[in-house]
Amino acid sequence: MELPAPLRQGVDSLLEKIPLPALKQAAKTLSDRYRAELRDGRLHMSDDMAAKAYLATRLPATYAAVRSSLDALADARPDFQPKSLLDVGAGPGTMLWATADAWPELERAVLVEASPSVRKVGQSLATDAIGARTDWIAGDATIDLDDLQPADLVSAAYVLDEIVPASLPKLIDRLWRLSADTLLFVEPGTPAGWQRILAARKQLIDTGAYISAPCPHEAPCPLVPPDWCHFARRVARSRLHRLAKGADVPWEDEKFIYLAASRHPAPMRPPRVIAPPKAGSGKVVLKLCQPDGSAAERLFSKRDGEVFRAARRADWGDTLG
Ligand SMILES: C[S@@+](CC[C@H](N)C(=O)[O-])C[C@H]1O[C@@H](n2cnc3c(N)ncnc32)[C@H](O)[C@@H]1O
Repeated sequence: MELPAPLRQGVDSLLEKIPLPALKQAAKTLSDRYRAELRDGRLHMSDDMAAKAYLATRLPATYAAVRSSLDALADARPDFQPKSLLDVGAGPGTMLWATADAWPELERAVLVEASPSVRKVGQSLATDAIGARTDWIAGDATIDLDDLQPADLVSAAYVLDEIVPASLPKLIDRLWRLSADTLLFVEPGTPAGWQRILAARKQLIDTGAYISAPCPHEAPCPLVPPDWCHFARRVARSRLHRLAKGADVPWEDEKFIYLAASRHPAPMRPPRVIAPPKAGSGKVVLKLCQPDGSAAERLFSKRDGEVFRAARRADWGDTLG
């Protein structure tokens, strides 16, 4: 998956005059902070160079994860056509660009972002490029959401892991109250990211939410550690991305987990493929999360006819049905 062309051009022009050694150093510092899941009271993107390192090394992957999560939501809820978006921890506007790509009829977006550096970058990328009326709000999502209006789609991508765990239940409650239809979380596809999603999932189901995706049910998650639910998207690395990371491979696989919780149930909830398919000659084994709340590996062979052909086409993260 690639960034939309106007976003890629905007990023390229913001990065074109940055000396590579400075970008590499900022990318390393940022990556070290993310890996350590540091919560030391400082924002990871506390200066302009960190925000630009994010554009070079993280935005393509977070965009791919967010856009894939929106695809899953759109598949599950074909009736959902959001006109308004409220995104917290908006970074450079990743969710804004992905939502405008998924639903070009988006009219209004409110983006809450605590870091002035990344807010400035996000504003400059979106100005004159995004059709929706867009407001960027400087603020801390854990304390500054009271004056906001509800939106059809409310979201937080790669943000819960930057918030102190004790503040999460209240934040989730506020975001759900602001969700006129759907609340979407996207997190890194790590066991810790899955645990945060599981906690949010339980809290939202207890409040009456329906899960639109990825789970085809509201039963407790059937996976047991060390297993964990996550998905992956292959992301092309630009030349600058490779140079900033000191990487040779022209792509990377972004692992992510997401949760779309809605006020309306999805019309159908087919099983979802929750691991890479294992294909052999004339057969394929899919690990499926199923509407009855169970997860199981199922073998499909040529004898299954059309179902086998659908199973052969299904990829990790797709639904079967
Ligand atoms: C990893 S970035 C993700 C950015 C964007 N959502 C994306 O998916 O690319 C997390 C963002 O959340 C912001 N953030 C962290 N804590 C926040 C808070 N309490 N209130 C508002 N923004 C916050 C950070 O400044 C950063 O821009």
